Amino acid sequence: MDKLIIAIDGFSSTGKSTLAKLLAKELGYIHIDSGAMYRAITLYAIENGMFSDGKIIESELVPQLHFMDIHFELNTKNGKNEIFLNGENVEEKIRQMEVSSKVSLIAKIAEVRNYAVDLQRKMGEKKGIVMDGRDIGTTVFPNADLKIYLSASAEERAMRRYEELLKTEHPATYDEVFKNISERDLIDSTREISPLRKADDALIVENGNLSPQQTLQKVMKIIKELKNLN
Ligand code: DC
Repeated sequence: MDKLIIAIDGFSSTGKSTLAKLLAKELGYIHIDSGAMYRAITLYAIENGMFSDGKIIESELVPQLHFMDIHFELNTKNGKNEIFLNGENVEEKIRQMEVSSKVSLIAKIAEVRNYAVDLQRKMGEKKGIVMDGRDIGTTVFPNADLKIYLSASAEERAMRRYEELLKTEHPATYDEVFKNISERDLIDSTREISPLRKADDALIVENGNLSPQQTLQKVMKIIKELKNLN
């Protein structure tokens, strides 16, 4: 069977990237974390003083989009496809709370989404890709071979992100993380363009009480069944 395009969507911290990375490794595919692209654009806007009173100055950001170089490179040490912004590896910087608290404002700008979706579609041209995000199954790859919609409660997701941040140089309290996740859930699912929603043909995978390996096994079983059908 030809290589597949696999779309993984869901709310923040449902474990999309973890699952996508494990799946890509198992299948020998490329993993693209589309959220990292919106985060890199947000980092660019922060570093270039494009926020005023907590609001993004769109007229400054939009003309800059096409001059940004955003690409991924595989880090052979940790097996992670890491994001570069204008030649700098920003994989860690983009996970800071400051970026997390502003990224939804950036991700709802039409020009930003068009720019990111174009890049994402180009990355999928050769198939053999696992992409995770919010609108992958609905907008980026509506014809994806497999669409997974990951789901877990806000409390479970906040605890996961909190524990992840504790391991970095930019930790935050559980309450801060929970508040941020709840705010992003609301903005991501109610924004005008490409809001987060389950594609009609996506399969829901509940993983609140599953480990990353158990989630992987569940999805690999689905993929094997799919391959047997073809
Ligand atoms: O997956 P994440 O939390 O790193 O994503 C960061 C933000 O980017 C999130 O608040 C919503 C936005 N996003 C989006 O709008 N569309 C995507 N395909 C991926 C992420």
